[in-house]
Amino acid sequence: MKKLILKALLLTYFCTAASVALAQQAPQAEVSCFESRKGASEVVKRDLQPGWPNVKCSPLTGAVLWWGDPFDGTVPMGDMPLLENIPSGKAVVKPRSEKLALMPLCGVACHNGVGPKANPPKLPTSKKPTPIPTMAAMVPDLQNLQHGRDRIWCMDCHHTTQRNKLVDNFGDPISFDQPQLLCGKCHGDKMRDWRDGIHGKRIGEWASTGKKRWFTCTECHNPHNVQDGIRNRGFVQIAPETPPQLPKGMKDAKHELVHGVAH
Ligand code: HEC
Ligand code: HEC
Ligand code: HEC
Repeated sequence: MKKLILKALLLTYFCTAASVALAQQAPQAEVSCFESRKGASEVVKRDLQPGWPNVKCSPLTGAVLWWGDPFDGTVPMGDMPLLENIPSGKAVVKPRSEKLALMPLCGVACHNGVGPKANPPKLPTSKKPTPIPTMAAMVPDLQNLQHGRDRIWCMDCHHTTQRNKLVDNFGDPISFDQPQLLCGKCHGDKMRDWRDGIHGKRIGEWASTGKKRWFTCTECHNPHNVQDGIRNRGFVQIAPETPPQLPKGMKDAKHELVHGVAH
């Protein structure tokens, strides 16, 4: 018995030594995983403190499995009707603007009428669809936008003169960090559910009065293609995670197949 323990100890020692050596040799590749929408909500894995990663990525789907600190990189949500009673700093979101590489440019070039001197672009005079070849590469199905079944278009969501802003029903600007105010002007039912915690997702403190990170609409929905894909509902089915490890001593999970209550 003692021999066995010694062997096991030695094996552990060598394995650890080998993996330490390997880790030292190869520089750690940057791991990034997505929080809710692939291609739009990626986070780079890093240490918040030594040995304490900000996220754990699924080796299977590349999705975030858990957060080391759910408030990492968050900012206060901003004003939202009927949420005035939440003490400031208790409702936080991850800002979208930093994910939008093109936006800072849109507001200062072209769409403010500055742009190239020879052919200065004009601001749209109507909300109706018109061909905009320069935008085709950025918004797929531009002329046949996969949102609203041909009843809405760019200027229903984007501000005419301030291109780094969305637009509300009065024509006033909305920040990209508060998409709920935009989506809510047409999807009032979903916004109400989201506000009540029935739709979407929140993470953070357990107590109902505790600090929480709210996922905003555009973290999950791509505003340009919600009606894309075979289901015409915007979301493709994702592969399920592998089942959890069986408890010690259990050979298989066949008991799961047996109905608990006979009938
Ligand atoms: C339903 C509302 C809606 C409609 C309609 C819409 N957009 Fe957007 N658009 C948004 C929102 C919201 C974002 C920010 C997305 C995010 O946070 O990921 C955005 C982002 C963008 C961006 C920035 C992408 C980046 O990566 O910086 C461009 C460019 C854009 N839209 C162009 C258009 C054009 C052109 C049209 C018309 C063909 C259009 N949008 C129609 C809501 C809309
Ligand atoms: C100007 C009005 C308007 C705005 C703003 C708007 N939508 Fe829509 N949305 C529509 C319409 C119209 C439809 C099509 C409903 C239908 O005919 O099935 C739709 C469809 C959808 C669908 C698909 C629903 C389904 O049943 O297939 C989703 C998801 C969605 N919108 C999310 C959003 C999100 C997220 C935002 C904010 C970024 C947003 N919408 C902003 C008008 C709007
Ligand atoms: C954590 C992710 C997440 C967030 C945040 C989120 N949604 Fe959704 N939403 C979903 C999923 C998942 C579905 C179901 C899609 C399906 O059935 O194809 C959905 C469905 C919808 C639909 C279609 C509902 C229907 O009846 O078919 C609309 C409209 C919608 N969401 C709007 C919104 C709006 C507006 C917000 C923000 C106030 C929002 N969502 C926030 C994940 C999210």
